[in-house]
Amino acid sequence: MVHQLVYYSRNTVEGGDRAMLTNLREIVSASQRNNSRDGITGFLIFDKTWFVQILEGEKLKVTDTYNRIARDSRHSSATIMNVRDVEARLFPNWTMGGAMRTPEAQEVYLQHGIGGAIEPTRLKSTQVIDLALDLQAFELSKRQGQRLTA
Ligand SMILES: Cc1cc2nc3c(=O)[nH]c(=O)nc-3n(C[C@H](O)[C@H](O)[C@H](O)COP(=O)(O)O)c2cc1C
Repeated sequence: MVHQLVYYSRNTVEGGDRAMLTNLREIVSASQRNNSRDGITGFLIFDKTWFVQILEGEKLKVTDTYNRIARDSRHSSATIMNVRDVEARLFPNWTMGGAMRTPEAQEVYLQHGIGGAIEPTRLKSTQVIDLALDLQAFELSKRQGQRLTA
């Protein structure tokens, strides 16, 4: 069984797109280092106001990782939406691909009824998972397309 945790938090990174990008780079590099060590995978969705993240792995590792993330000053009010055990990982990589609101990715958000900002306080964890699964599939198809045409 794989432990799965879904949470949202308020993005407190200030200073516009440049600051956001710098912070995201730091989050990504720390995540790649720690998550590969800890067997954690998942998906990170974000905009200027919110982060929504899914973490999957061993229960203890997921809990430790979440507790470490929750203390991060780049966000606040981290709120767990759901924890459960799943048969197998739904997100076998750690990725935030497709989380960027490119015009192509926007199509996926629209399919889930999210035209504007993400409103995690109004979403159920199952809606978050469904959106993340479609963003993951979108990202994969994009990469395969690139490989084929390369
Ligand atoms: C929204 C958000 C998501 C994060 N996701 C992860 C993650 O999946 N894994 C991780 O190790 N750190 C993540 N971090 C970073 C941690 O809060 C923390 O800075 C990092 O784990 C510290 O790593 P270090 O002790 O190796 O420097 C995240 C931070 C934020 C703000």
